[in-house]
Amino acid sequence: MSLVRLQRGERLVLATHNTGKLREIVMLLAPHGIEVVSAGDLGLPEPDETAPDFLGNARIKALAAAAAAGLPALADDSGFCVAALAGVPGVHSARWAGPAKDFTAAMARVNHAMGDATDRRAWFTSVLCLANPGGETASFLGRVEGHTVWPPRGHAGFGYDPLFQPAGAMRTYGEMTSIEKTTTSHRARAFEAFLAAMMPA
Ligand code: IMP
Repeated sequence: MSLVRLQRGERLVLATHNTGKLREIVMLLAPHGIEVVSAGDLGLPEPDETAPDFLGNARIKALAAAAAAGLPALADDSGFCVAALAGVPGVHSARWAGPAKDFTAAMARVNHAMGDATDRRAWFTSVLCLANPGGETASFLGRVEGHTVWPPRGHAGFGYDPLFQPAGAMRTYGEMTSIEKTTTSHRARAFEAFLAAMMPA
């Protein structure tokens, strides 16, 4: 099914309760004249992410928010994937940090699980899903390849940012300025595809 495109001035719910993601998506949307309201601002509940993949979970979040708010909703499902761990933590990236959302512990857990594997390759994936209240969806994928570092470097960003150095970069996501990370990340790549399809100039 095809979705009606977004127009400047339209209201859009950002279907996330993650403040790091919210900050980045608001920054990406800012130049495009879309009025943004977050799921948290509207008091919307967080649906259970029961799908086995990023696409399925992004759809669950976008559809739930669009139906509850009666507005188009944009959701991101994303995660940190490690080659030596066959893509884990992947869709379970948030869960690896436990109920306390302790990403210092989650990064140590990843590093411990990798042990002395010589393959340090890793990647971030983001799937953005736009849904309308009628139940139509469109999804967009972004991915950035790189490798893990140990110890983690930098204090910017959120989640696994200090553990990840993109290919060709000298700094980890955690060492980049917020503009630099936000405009080059996996989420930025998914956002480019979203813009081209849903908000053509
Ligand atoms: P979910 O998409 O809500 O299931 O959560 C994704 C989890 O992946 C986040 O809680 C972070 O741990 C991690 N993650 C996703 N994107 C990023 C990012 O840009 N930087 C660091 N960690 C991220």
